[in-house]
Amino acid sequence: MHKLIINGGKKLEGEITVSGAKNSAVALIPAALLCDESVTLANVPNISDVDALEDILRHLNAKIERNDNGELHISSDTIVNKKIDKKSAKRLRASYYFMGALLGKYKKCEMCFPGGCSIGTRPIDLHLKGFESLGATITEDGENFKIEADELKGAKIYLDFASVGATINIMFAAVKATGTTIINNAAKEPEIVNVATYLNNMGAKISGAGTKKIKIEGVPYLHSCFHEVIPDRIEAGTYEIIGAACSDRLKINGIIPEHLEALHNKLKEMNVNITVEDDNAVIVESGDLKPTNVTTEVYPGFATDLQQVIASLMTQANGESEIHETIWENRFQNLYELKKMGAKVKIDGERAYIKGKTKLTGTEIYATDLRAGAGLVVAGLLAEGTTVIDNADLILRGYEGIVEKLRGVGADITLE
Ligand code: UD1
Repeated sequence: MHKLIINGGKKLEGEITVSGAKNSAVALIPAALLCDESVTLANVPNISDVDALEDILRHLNAKIERNDNGELHISSDTIVNKKIDKKSAKRLRASYYFMGALLGKYKKCEMCFPGGCSIGTRPIDLHLKGFESLGATITEDGENFKIEADELKGAKIYLDFASVGATINIMFAAVKATGTTIINNAAKEPEIVNVATYLNNMGAKISGAGTKKIKIEGVPYLHSCFHEVIPDRIEAGTYEIIGAACSDRLKINGIIPEHLEALHNKLKEMNVNITVEDDNAVIVESGDLKPTNVTTEVYPGFATDLQQVIASLMTQANGESEIHETIWENRFQNLYELKKMGAKVKIDGERAYIKGKTKLTGTEIYATDLRAGAGLVVAGLLAEGTTVIDNADLILRGYEGIVEKLRGVGADITLE
């Protein structure tokens, strides 16, 4: 297990460029096997979640090559549809995308229940119900699933919750089904648009991605395509929050501002000196920070994945901030670690209250999940003295070159 060691209190200055979006890449890679030829994916982030998916594709006998530009070339014509073992499935939540992709292509998938960060119970009932609506039968044996269909037929599906994973997985299963599938109450996250565009680039017929109603007309064949992963809005938001916490002047390049509107509004509300342009944001040292309230919502609301990161910034606002976490029921573990650093925090069910301004002091803390870890990096950069973040491997799952990027703007951070 790696540790991140941060000597805090340094003022950061310079530029950071955002990498490709983890949550897009982890869907685009499994979906390569839906293609009947080969795909090239550009701007794929070099993170351990991507490595884990590549390993599963290799286990299925796909051919994968990565060039120096970070482009991933995947050919699926040699694929053998084998069971995905427990160890591989448990490495990450997004292994569930192999369910939809293998079902869509081969009408059969066998794998274990997916893993992922401990931020809630993380059921997959909506995915499975969607597959059943398309004609699949599901057999569960402990943690193992067998999902198969003689024929997949388009259907009208209503999602009880606008789940990102279920929306994408149902698109995968429906893209080659006969007839038309409608997903009502679909998730609208930018990653869903990125995935739908990719499938359309292969010849799929998907419309409405980015709205609550997605229509998929099944096609029999998907051809080669070149496709680019969108910039990671969560990584971008993390560096913007770092800029707000401890920079003289930090420029974050390669962002899509409309993906970050909810965060930008909150940062402005907190009195953060941020200027947003076409594809970048500049954060200049702010005056006194004001407290704020954040309620996590589906896109375009405030992203749950940035809630734990902004929590660390809230320790520096003068007054009490409130977080209402509505998506995941176990997403305040980071706050117990912040407390060890001196933060004044109260947790009450779905709500947390953070009172500032507090001087944070470096100590040994533990990354309980990916975004909790990112929040602790913000705290470590702010804190006086040395912060040691244990279990830092979780952070490396989602942040390409985080040490190099932060060192490049003057942070004293090392990975051990
Ligand atoms: C994705 C993101 C994750 C983000 C989350 C919410 C990826 C790889 N991960 O996760 O970073 O935090 O969206 O923006 O893209 N739910 C059910 N049944 C289901 C599926 C989900 O009840 O079958 C519930 C979950 O328990 C949770 C909510 O729906 O309360 C949101 O889940 P979902 O949008 O599916 O999240 P993920 O796709 O897993």
